[in-house]
Amino acid sequence: MSSENLQVLLAERPVGWVEPRHFTLQRAPVPSPGEGEVLVRNRWLSLDPYMRGRMSDAKSYAEPVALGAVMVGGTAGEVVESRDPALRPGDKVVGMLGWQRFGCVPARALMKVDDSRVPLQAWLGPLGMPGVTAWYGLNRICEPQPGQTVVVTAASGAVGSVVGQLAKARGCRVVGVAGGAAKCDYVRGELGFDACVDYKAGRLGEDLKAALPDGADCLFENVGGEIFDRLLGLMRPFGRIALCGMISDYNATEPYAMRNVRAVLVQRLKMQGFIVSEHMELWPQALRELGAMAAAGSLRWRESVAEGLERAPEAFIDMLRGGNFGKQLVRVD
Ligand SMILES: NC(=O)c1ccc[n+]([C@@H]2O[C@H](COP(=O)([O-])OP(=O)(O)OC[C@H]3O[C@@H](n4cnc5c(N)ncnc54)[C@H](OP(=O)(O)O)[C@@H]3O)[C@@H](O)[C@H]2O)c1
Repeated sequence: MSSENLQVLLAERPVGWVEPRHFTLQRAPVPSPGEGEVLVRNRWLSLDPYMRGRMSDAKSYAEPVALGAVMVGGTAGEVVESRDPALRPGDKVVGMLGWQRFGCVPARALMKVDDSRVPLQAWLGPLGMPGVTAWYGLNRICEPQPGQTVVVTAASGAVGSVVGQLAKARGCRVVGVAGGAAKCDYVRGELGFDACVDYKAGRLGEDLKAALPDGADCLFENVGGEIFDRLLGLMRPFGRIALCGMISDYNATEPYAMRNVRAVLVQRLKMQGFIVSEHMELWPQALRELGAMAAAGSLRWRESVAEGLERAPEAFIDMLRGGNFGKQLVRVD
């Protein structure tokens, strides 16, 4: 067992784009668990867009990471030492231990997982927070009926890829929007979407209209900005919009100025933002359904893996720019 902890700390709050200098790497002693606590060795760290918000102290739904503190993050790993009878050394667990090799938390803050049928890191992706996000937004906000059209942005990503597959399983026509031909080929060919618009191809307006000739009943929005604005103008009457994320704005110093908000009124649309961690009571149901699909081979996903915690900052920045292809992870050595 490595005898030291490695941690990535928030060094400075970014204004605009995140840069490597906003993080520092620190070596520290391995912590010891107190009564009721568990020492975990993290094997996987999840990198997620929400972390950009936590680096900033602007008003938000969650507290920012303090300067000099370990960056927040979902992790999957194994119990090394336990001072709670609920967990034993060797148990595989997911939790929020942050960007570090080792962490100590109360046992109740961890979820024990089974990695015998899916790889451990799947509990950070399709069978974790991103999967539940897709499930919640689609089932509780979009509520598509068979035969209706669902459009999802950032379609090849951790959340978007699950949204589209869930919607296909409900008998919907599914259109994705993604950056680049390779991602669109994957979304159509491997994930089984009916169509995918490459927003980087330079014909966004025409291509969205061609893919949605009768408009969309449901929009699962991950991106914001011009794509969202144009899709608003393509919604059918009484359409539903799950406002999940606006990643195109996360590093912007000025938010994108929307032009088509009038469509919400004219088409009598319902739009709702949501935060998946505020719906913990639904996670067991969502994970059961996603797990059943994974076991049946009807849920597909891919991963982008950065090797080593030292690479976490650059992998995070790359993901915010769309450099990831599927769930962005760090293999913690
Ligand atoms: N509300 C919630 O509770 C909740 C929970 C989880 C995630 N989210 C949100 O869901 C969204 C997707 O998260 P994820 O974890 O699944 O990430 P992801 O889709 O795996 O990765 C982010 C993707 O965003 C796309 N992107 C980045 N900048 C863009 C831009 N300027 N224009 C268009 N697309 C851009 C890139 O894909 P392309 O190459 O296709 O552009 C990139 O691969 C994020 O907005 C995130 O904040 C919300």
